[in-house]
Amino acid sequence: MDQREALASSWSKNAENWTRAVREGLIPSRGAGTDDAIVEAICCRKPQSFLDVGCGEGWLVRRIVKRTGCHALGIDGSAQLIADARQADPDGRYQVVDYRELVERRAGFDESFDVIAFNYALFDEEASRLLEAIRPYLSAGGRIVIQTLHPWALSREGHYLDAWRREDFSAFKNQDWTSMPWYFRTLASWHDVIRNAGLMMAELREPAAKPGGLPLSLLLICAAFEQLEEKRSEISDCREDPADGNQ
Ligand SMILES: C[S@@+](CC[C@H](N)C(=O)[O-])C[C@H]1O[C@@H](n2cnc3c(N)ncnc32)[C@H](O)[C@@H]1O
Repeated sequence: MDQREALASSWSKNAENWTRAVREGLIPSRGAGTDDAIVEAICCRKPQSFLDVGCGEGWLVRRIVKRTGCHALGIDGSAQLIADARQADPDGRYQVVDYRELVERRAGFDESFDVIAFNYALFDEEASRLLEAIRPYLSAGGRIVIQTLHPWALSREGHYLDAWRREDFSAFKNQDWTSMPWYFRTLASWHDVIRNAGLMMAELREPAAKPGGLPLSLLLICAAFEQLEEKRSEISDCREDPADGNQ
């Protein structure tokens, strides 16, 4: 099994543990600010339509629909996580889709989305290919919002290089987790992933628990290259008008 397959398969094995960890608030950084950071980054766009890629048990879809009333879809490769999402939200739309199906154009959508999110769901070495496959489903003026591990918080002494690593979930008390391979990227590498997918970084945020605190995550807000170029002069950064985002 290659690293990509091992990554996807770890989530099928970890589904039950993951749903419990999310729903029981067992991941401290989420309560400390990363959940709120991605919700805010999405809601300030006032989306009418929202796609959550690698949605897991569906918390972000539920939260965004509650806040904005938008039309939302969650997709994930784990059938168990999608079942958990549907159970929590029987009226919501959730589909089992593996990233590989999108990259190979065996799966797609007959709609476009104002915001497409990847919340800790882009761990593959081939992230560019997935973003490139998703980009055509972005509405005009839409944004792809990626939240991920901050590379500067995870760089090992003397080693700041793209490489596969392994998460063993040892931070959780129970040992019943399957380790997950994931691809560490430097900040420059994230920039290249986005550019190679035909996207541009419209904004980079570093959410922290308190002003001046160390970043909890890296939040990248991306637009299709041609859209950003055309609208460069009139891009409105949500942070310039925070009151506007309070829905
Ligand atoms: C860390 S979890 C994040 C879940 C969710 N976004 C959240 O914020 O709770 C990573 C998610 O990516 C999904 N994933 C990983 N590789 C995938 C693949 N190849 N195809 C589809 N989903 C995948 C997993 O099933 C898992 O739900």
